[in-house]
Amino acid sequence: MYDLHIFVCTNQKILPKVGCQDRLDFDLVEYLRTEIAIMPTKTLIRVNKSGCLGQCSKGSTVVIYPQNKWFFGVNKTNVEEILTFVENAKSL
Ligand code: FES
Repeated sequence: MYDLHIFVCTNQKILPKVGCQDRLDFDLVEYLRTEIAIMPTKTLIRVNKSGCLGQCSKGSTVVIYPQNKWFFGVNKTNVEEILTFVENAKSL
C-alpha cells in the first residue's frame, strides 16, 4: 500500500523509566509529516505513531520499512538524516 512506512515511537513511561516521547522536546511525528508532505515525490509515504519498538535505551527511535532502516537517538540536530534517507529512498 505504501512505498515507505515510517514508525515513530511515541511511547511514554512513568519515571524513573524513560520512553522515546519523554526524550523529545518537539513533535517528531508532525515534523516528519510536514516535511515529507512538501517533498516533490510521488512515493507513497506514511508516518505513524508507534508504541514501544523494543529499543528504549537507544531512543528516540524511528524505523522505516520496507528498508528496515533504524534511527536511534533522534533529536532536532539529527532529524534531517531521516529526511535525507526518505529523499534517497524514493528512487527505489
Ligand atoms: S520506548 Fe521507544 S523503543 Fe521503547
